[in-house]
Formats: sequence, C-alpha cells, structure tokens
Amino acid sequence: MTDLANHPGVHAPMFRPGVYPSDLTTRVTTERGLTLQMRPIRPDDADILNQFHAQLSPDSVFRRYFSVHPELSASELVHLTTVDYVDRLAFIIIDRGVLVAVGRYDRDPQTTRAEVAFLVDDAFQHQGLGILLLDHLADAAWARGITTFVAETQADNRSMMHVFRESGFEVTARLEDEIILVHFPIEPTESSRARRAERARRWATSREAALR
Ligand SMILES: CC(C)(COP(=O)(O)OP(=O)(O)OC[C@H]1O[C@@H](n2cnc3c(N)ncnc32)[C@H](O)[C@@H]1OP(=O)(O)O)[C@@H](O)C(=O)NCCC(=O)NCCS
Repeated sequence: MTDLANHPGVHAPMFRPGVYPSDLTTRVTTERGLTLQMRPIRPDDADILNQFHAQLSPDSVFRRYFSVHPELSASELVHLTTVDYVDRLAFIIIDRGVLVAVGRYDRDPQTTRAEVAFLVDDAFQHQGLGILLLDHLADAAWARGITTFVAETQADNRSMMHVFRESGFEVTARLEDEIILVHFPIEPTESSRARRAERARRWATSREAALR
C-alpha cells in the first residue's frame, strides 16, 4: 500500500511547474547496442515532433490516437510539446537529431493518477524503447507525487501490453468494448527493481555477445 504521507511529491513540493528538469536528460542504450538521447520535451521540439508524426505508419498512428490522424494540428503540436514537467511530462528519444519515440503522462486533475501514452517510430519498434520510456516516466512521475498509471490500448496491442508487463509493476487489465483498460501502481517494488536489473544484465550480455 502506498504511504502518501511519506511520498515526497505530496508534502514536499520540490518541483516547480514549468521549470525544465535538465537532470532528466540521459543517454539510453538498447539491447542491440544503439545509444540514443532521452530528454523531456520542450516547446521548440514542435518541428521534430511534426516530422516524426508525418512519417509514422497509419497503423502506429491509429494505435496511439484511435483514429486516422496523419497530421498534427498547430494547436496539438503546442499541447504535446508544452508540458509543465510536474502534472504533464513527456520524454522524447532522439537519434542524431531525429525524434524516434515519445512517451508521456498526463495527471488526472486533483488525483495521484496519470494516463500514459507511447509512440515509437516503426523502424525503432521491438528494440526496448517502449520499456525504457516507461521506466523513466514511472521514476519521474513517482517523484512528482503520482502513484498510479492508467492507459487505454486496443485489445490486440500485444507490444503495448508486453511493455506494461515487462515493467514488473502489478498490472491490472480489463477488457471493455475491444479496449483494454490498464492500471498499475508505480511505487518501486522489489519486483520492478528486480525486473529492471535482470533486463539490464540480459541486454548487456546480448551486447557483449554481438561484439564477439
Ligand atoms: C506499443 C509500442 C509503444 C511499444 O514500443 P516498443 O519500443 O516497440 O516496445 P518494446 O520493444 O519495449 O517491446 C515490444 C515488443 O518488442 C519485443 N522486443 C523487445 N526488445 C526486443 C529485441 N531486442 N529483439 C526483438 N524483439 C524485442 C518485445 O518482446 C515485445 O514483443 P511483442 O510485441 O511480441 O510483445 C510501439 O510498438 C508503438 O509505438 N506502437 C504504436 C503506437 C501504440 O501502440 N501506442 C500504444 C497506445 S498508448
């Protein structure tokens, strides 16, 4: 059970909305040894987000937006790139200046619950970027007083469900009208820590084997 009284984000508001959290900028390495930059999104990322969106497959866009949505409007670009880094936060992953993945959370107002959403470039899917985004989002959200992630995903979205389960958090899923409604507590647990450590070891072993 989450002890909210001891949760840093609730009683010790260390995070001022609107202040860019540079400390969340990091480099991530995939199982295949690809090293990429991950950082919180900024308003001046509108152009690279627009380019990213424009070249996604219709299937990926449909899975993210539940509709045919080939272009983002100017107001959507502002909404998606302007976040306050406390109640709304998005991480982008960049490969040599090109945006290749984005993951975000949006807090439900006045709650400790936030909705998460992910979109990975088709050419970069199945390389672990989804799970890396979820790990970093969960850490940042937990530090900011969020205790639960919720998501809606299409019933046949195996990749998304894989990512949620790979986190090691206790995922609860319910099917409603062809949509899976997912929720899980993001308090770090022995299981989530163990899963991350096991994955880090597995990926390191794969990278070493690839070098031999
Ligand atoms: C769903 C999505 C975010 C997952 O991101 P991802 O980066 O592909 O996720 P991961 O690589 O961490 O894991 C997904 C799959 O890749 C596999 N995988 C991970 N690393 C792998 C590797 N090194 N080699 C081969 N497969 C790998 C996983 O086993 C998993 O397999 P599955 O799809 O058969 O279950 C991505 O596919 C996507 O953007 N889809 C379109 C939009 C969408 O569905 N958004 C979700 C709605 S919120």
